[in-house]
Amino acid sequence: MEKQFKHTPVLLKEVIEALNIKGDGIYVDGTFGGGGHSSKILESLKSGRLIAIDKDDDALAFGYEKFSASNNVTFVKSDFKQIESILEELNIDAVDGILLDLGVSSYQLDTAERGFSFRHDAKLDMRMDQTKNLDAYEVVNKFDENRLIKIFFEYGEEPKTKNIVRAIAKNRKIKPIETTRQLVDIITSVVPFNNLTTIARIFQAIRIEVNEELDYLEQCLKQMVNKLKKGGRLAVITFHSLEDRIVKNTFKALSLNCICDKKIPICICNNKAEIIIINKKPIIPTQEELNKNPRSSSAKLRVIEKI
Ligand SMILES: C[S@@+](CC[C@H](N)C(=O)[O-])C[C@H]1O[C@@H](n2cnc3c(N)ncnc32)[C@H](O)[C@@H]1O
Repeated sequence: MEKQFKHTPVLLKEVIEALNIKGDGIYVDGTFGGGGHSSKILESLKSGRLIAIDKDDDALAFGYEKFSASNNVTFVKSDFKQIESILEELNIDAVDGILLDLGVSSYQLDTAERGFSFRHDAKLDMRMDQTKNLDAYEVVNKFDENRLIKIFFEYGEEPKTKNIVRAIAKNRKIKPIETTRQLVDIITSVVPFNNLTTIARIFQAIRIEVNEELDYLEQCLKQMVNKLKKGGRLAVITFHSLEDRIVKNTFKALSLNCICDKKIPICICNNKAEIIIINKKPIIPTQEELNKNPRSSSAKLRVIEKI
């Protein structure tokens, strides 16, 4: 295969420690990517099994090749949000550990034609799963203005959203916005100086919409907890505050023994905590890792254990 799948796994040592891997355990890597974390998980497995999920065909193709000699890896092309049906299909009731390393891989970002990066000029695409219909072109050219405003505000937290959407609407009336460069030029026409953050926010927002990154994430985390054996671990790496907030709040809710209104003096809810939170504060990269891999800078790792 000519292309190289380049991705440096983030918080690798910390993830492997967090998963507390048993040699005969069953583990799920829900975001296989370049298989950096999966490789290390596999090194610790003896009779155990690894289920490697990704929705990107390129990632899976590289994975098949990389692990062609391993007979304890099962690759699944799917969205990890389908965890229940994936495990059911494989006749697996419960697993010992699950890893989610959310977002895009360096390979996706650096492969210009995938259209994820504002640093390359390419067709607006941004699909992790290239068999899906919805791409960045569709979002930018076909979504009505109110929908775009909602997406840029919610997923990009961009204060100049309204002006940017107005500029997009004006431009696409003249001719379709087909490339990342055209979109960058439109954003630059609204925010001419120091605009890298704005551009990054708008690209992030479109990517989240195209790949439904935040939809059902909370439900998915709950399903993953349900699928863990007692003592099993779930480790999640996030790269922006929107994702991290969902992970943090979902874990907190599942760790509570009482969810009664604070005004009620005694507990009447009979709620039982399902998990313990292993690290109260998220684990972040060391300075050494940041120096080696600046892309790890916003990573946060949260880990829970099923009780
Ligand atoms: C940050 S990379 C993972 C890198 C990997 N941990 C490694 O060390 O090489 C994220 C990967 O997860 C995939 N991905 C993101 N969201 C997904 C989802 N909801 N379902 C399946 N795969 C997903 C992306 O296609 C990408 O390949």
